[in-house]
Amino acid sequence: MTKILQISDTHIVPHGDLAYDKVDTAAALSETVATINRLRAQAGPIDLVIVTGDLTEHGSDAEYGRFLEIMADLELPFRAVPGNHDRRGPMRSAFETTGWMSRQGDVNWQTDFEDFAVVGLDSLEEGQAYGTLAPDTLAWLSGQLVELNGKPVIIALHHPPFATGIQAMDAQNLRNANELEDALAGYSGEIRLICGHVHRSIAGLFAGRFCQICQGTSHAVTLDQRSDAGNSLTVEPGGMMLHEWRGGRFLSHLIPVGSFPGPYPFLGVR
Ligand SMILES: [Fe+2]
Ligand SMILES: [Fe+2]
Repeated sequence: MTKILQISDTHIVPHGDLAYDKVDTAAALSETVATINRLRAQAGPIDLVIVTGDLTEHGSDAEYGRFLEIMADLELPFRAVPGNHDRRGPMRSAFETTGWMSRQGDVNWQTDFEDFAVVGLDSLEEGQAYGTLAPDTLAWLSGQLVELNGKPVIIALHHPPFATGIQAMDAQNLRNANELEDALAGYSGEIRLICGHVHRSIAGLFAGRFCQICQGTSHAVTLDQRSDAGNSLTVEPGGMMLHEWRGGRFLSHLIPVGSFPGPYPFLGVR
């Protein structure tokens, strides 16, 4: 049974810094890694961890170095797509020996498991907060879908293709969502889209397909849907998503980061 874990928006900053002077994102990523390693005993084999963008705050070599330092404790393989806070050059340098990182161009990749394939798409528009899927990326995606020929597929990208009502974030979501919709049209198999960027668990349909935005590992974009709301963060609990193929469908489980009391048996309950 194929299972993948999604984490998102780790926003790692250099040693000694807090993100936005408020959030210890490195400590949160360490806790996330520990949570994943503990989860393996209960969830069974997990094929891959995917980081859906904003691995770092500024896309610097030092930040990618710290990200890799923390992820070295992860007992599972991982892949990533860039977010608007990442930079392709330093990201490529940091991950060049991984085998999945493209040597040039956009950071797109595909990996195939027993029950479903996973496609990572690069939506980074360098220097901008909003996202775009480049023509080459869209053409590559179309080619992958032809090859997959109806096999279930998870498509991971940083920028959500729909608005969430948090207007400061909606202004920086995926600009050419209509072209993504065109690329997905007519695919005969199941597609699940997974995104980040909003740092909140939000699910909705896009192009008739289920699309899940994953919360961040350390902090949330504030859920403020007033028209005059500024862009702000709230230090809500971190989380991740476990996506699995079960009973002929995708299931997505929200899992909080951290360790909690239990498990306690339901005594006296049959
Ligand atoms: Fe982010
Ligand atoms: Fe982002």
